[in-house]
Amino acid sequence: MENKPKRGSFTGQLGFVLAAAGSAVGVGNLWRFPYLAAKDGGGLFIIIYLILVVTFGFTLLTSDITIGRKTGKSAIGAYTEMNPKWKFLGVLTFFVPVIIMTYYAVIGGWIAKYMVAYLTGEGGAAAKDGYFTSFISDPVQSSVYAVIFMVVTAVIIYRGVEKGIESCSRFMMPILLVLIIFVAVYSLFIHHGDRNGLQGFMVYITPDVKGLTVKKFMAVLLDAMSQLFFSLSVSMGIMITYGSYVKKDVDLNKSISQIEIFDTGVALLAGMAIIPAIYVFSGLSGMNAGPGLMFISLPKVFASMGVFGNVVGAAFFIMAVFATLTSCISVLEAITANCMEVFHTDRHKTTLVLGIIYTIASVIISLGYSVFYCKIPLPNGTVGQLLDLMDYVSNSFMMPFISFLSTILIGWIVRPQWIIGEVESSGVRFHRKQLYIIMVKFVCPVIMIMLFLQSTGLLAKL
Ligand code: PFF
Repeated sequence: MENKPKRGSFTGQLGFVLAAAGSAVGVGNLWRFPYLAAKDGGGLFIIIYLILVVTFGFTLLTSDITIGRKTGKSAIGAYTEMNPKWKFLGVLTFFVPVIIMTYYAVIGGWIAKYMVAYLTGEGGAAAKDGYFTSFISDPVQSSVYAVIFMVVTAVIIYRGVEKGIESCSRFMMPILLVLIIFVAVYSLFIHHGDRNGLQGFMVYITPDVKGLTVKKFMAVLLDAMSQLFFSLSVSMGIMITYGSYVKKDVDLNKSISQIEIFDTGVALLAGMAIIPAIYVFSGLSGMNAGPGLMFISLPKVFASMGVFGNVVGAAFFIMAVFATLTSCISVLEAITANCMEVFHTDRHKTTLVLGIIYTIASVIISLGYSVFYCKIPLPNGTVGQLLDLMDYVSNSFMMPFISFLSTILIGWIVRPQWIIGEVESSGVRFHRKQLYIIMVKFVCPVIMIMLFLQSTGLLAKL
């Protein structure tokens, strides 16, 4: 046991916003958003998503960040301080990053592998059939990349909030923004046969309501909702931890809007980069590539671009590595901060122990595609490997349930004023106060429980 360790903090609003945006912007924006937009009627999905961002996203993000800043603690300590009987919610929340961390560095390793391929001029090979499958089913290569990604993450966390997380986000996030704008604009100007990027862009933004039924609309709504959680990194304790490092004079209202805009802006740009490119080279059928979009379809698109393919591919995967790394550090930071508070240990020792545990975990999950290959049936009717199981438990199962409980706690037990008072403590007015109250008390709990029932397959049975 040591004395209470000193807490770090972000230097100011910009440092905080970039770090939080760093957590929010990740593979969810670059791969999942475009894939869902293509699947769910283009503009229709975009409109629904935008409405959800300014209602649900705003409510959940405001709640998490404000809980963190007000209590100055991470999930376990923060929920205990709000109401000691609700400590279980803190513990439950803590387990989300604990589970996500087992596989996040594995995905980071896959992306790093592609970045290396493009930087070494091997982009053409990455476009060949079977490249991705043979990489992930190679036990040595896939584990080595996962371990490297994990170690880099741990080193950044070891350096602390300001010198590690903030300085890394300050460096990577602006570069990421420039690169995604470059790829998005480039995508508009490509053409192949009788198709061009502009037509692909129209396919992306035009709402496709042909044959829309209530059932289909509900499915799109639920897709957009689960994407929103994942994308904003809410209900997993990460934004509580980051909020706890925000100084008292920072305007939370403004910071939260900026994080929403950053995250949504990058998702929209990623769609603008990917959908027209896939449309031009593979037509509409190419859009249904699903999860393989990033590792299988995109390299083929880059290969069809000729000489520029390698440059655009390199830009895309450098950006993807930055996005994944800044998200990965936020996951490890949430775990580290909770452990430091619970066990009263210092950052260095905690990071060292967690670094070792998660290096081993990452290797085990990587081997899920080779040595430990198995087919696991999931409650939502799909079949997956170890990584899919971890992803399902944390994102589809735990997150809606945690959001449900946390909105009940805020809306009905500690009351919304608890949050509003903290937002206004820096002398600003809470702009969307009425909206926040209605959302947190009534709308969020109902929708969250529906999302939870849907992900467990129970909704279909009702
Ligand atoms: N928000 C990240 C994204 O959109 O890719 C994903 C993410 C980050 C999920 C951190 C979970 C997490 F703990």
